[in-house]
Amino acid sequence: MNEYDSDVVAQMLTGAGLVRVYDPKTADIILVNTCVVRAKPEHKAYSSLGRMSVIKRKRPDVIMGVLGCMAQKSGGDLIKKFPLLDLVIGPKEIGSIMDFIEGVLINRKKIVAISLEPMPSSYNKCSGYFNGRVTGYISIMQGCNNFCSYCIVPFVRGREVCRSPNDILSETKQLVSEGIKEITLLGQNVNSYCWKDNKKEGFPSLLRKLAAIKGLLRLRFTTSHPKDLSNELIRCFAEIDNLCSHLHLPFQAGSNSVLENMRRGYTREWYLDLIFKLRETCPDITITSDVMVGFPGESAKDFDMTLDLVEKAQFDSLFSFKYSDRDGTLAKQMGNKIDEGEKARRLRILQDLQRNITIRKNRALEGKCLEVLVEGSSKKGKLSTGRTKGNKIVNFTVNNNVVGELINVLIKNSSANSLSGEAVDC
Ligand code: 5AD
Ligand code: SF4
Repeated sequence: MNEYDSDVVAQMLTGAGLVRVYDPKTADIILVNTCVVRAKPEHKAYSSLGRMSVIKRKRPDVIMGVLGCMAQKSGGDLIKKFPLLDLVIGPKEIGSIMDFIEGVLINRKKIVAISLEPMPSSYNKCSGYFNGRVTGYISIMQGCNNFCSYCIVPFVRGREVCRSPNDILSETKQLVSEGIKEITLLGQNVNSYCWKDNKKEGFPSLLRKLAAIKGLLRLRFTTSHPKDLSNELIRCFAEIDNLCSHLHLPFQAGSNSVLENMRRGYTREWYLDLIFKLRETCPDITITSDVMVGFPGESAKDFDMTLDLVEKAQFDSLFSFKYSDRDGTLAKQMGNKIDEGEKARRLRILQDLQRNITIRKNRALEGKCLEVLVEGSSKKGKLSTGRTKGNKIVNFTVNNNVVGELINVLIKNSSANSLSGEAVDC
């Protein structure tokens, strides 16, 4: 979501005639887009603002701004911490960035804009920017109504607000006409997408409409909440050809008592049953997830239940984090906080377990012929790179320039992070 927001801002600035530079020391406007979902990205944003302040001290004409969730969370207090800041712009206000920059230039006054009014002002401002790329994003909804006890998102992104299907359809068509072949639909909880007009439109129906757009080779979405994953959506994986067989389905914890304290609204049994249903309907599906260790009160036994769930679910990959207190959340008020060293120990054990599962799963793909959407050259330069329907990165050799095409790749090698092979006719 933040990458998308940064893209939208970059597009609005270049659209207004500004030129993008990659070294902040040479920039006239420096905008830092931020995330506060966990303590670590927030600390990174603080150090980044510190570094940018050094630049502005040397060149006072630079306009310096902070965008996104940290701006939303801390508002004007950020200016007290970083007096050289000119702009503090929340995620729903970024669509007016050019007006804010002009405001600073003309009035030489600082601007704090952190309204959480229903519609993000950035919608309908993202086209043209994707030129030359094969994959793009579209935000279909923002915000969240779930209030999981550890999570700051509902406070900084506001309540769920969905975009109209017509709006999403026309943005998709626009991107496809600009050469985009694969689109990822974004939202904090896409399965609860709902649009009420003459009749109700849910997420599965939106998916079917978008998938039918000519020229759209692939469709993906993220993120989904297990409690809202309907059978109708599961069927979409079997029935919609160009819907990629990958689901990111965060489980967060493997113990029922921790899940209850997290207010997740499901049990481990419900979650494992969903995984079973998904694999029954779509045997090739790649399933990835998010999990936290060291939630307040998480006992050694609770943690064992997390390891057990990971063993049973056999995720293709897993994003795992140490729990961190977030302002305003219920979990911050809870007792029985887990020691940082213990959190780090649990994280290591969990990550070792998952790494072996990922390696095993990737190894099982060696010798198979997989469809890959070619995105460009790999980081090392000599190979082409793309992703499978299951979202696995593949580096491969191919004779012609096939960027933007679906090709077959025979997988010869694998690691925990990627697959490699050669283009073939299967
Ligand atoms: N501490 C640690 N991890 C968190 N996440 C969300 N809130 C917290 C928190 N307070 C993780 C969840 C979520 C991912 C985006 O970040 O796993 O799915
Ligand atoms: Fe946060 Fe996701 Fe829970 Fe919403 S559903 S509160 S975004 S963890």
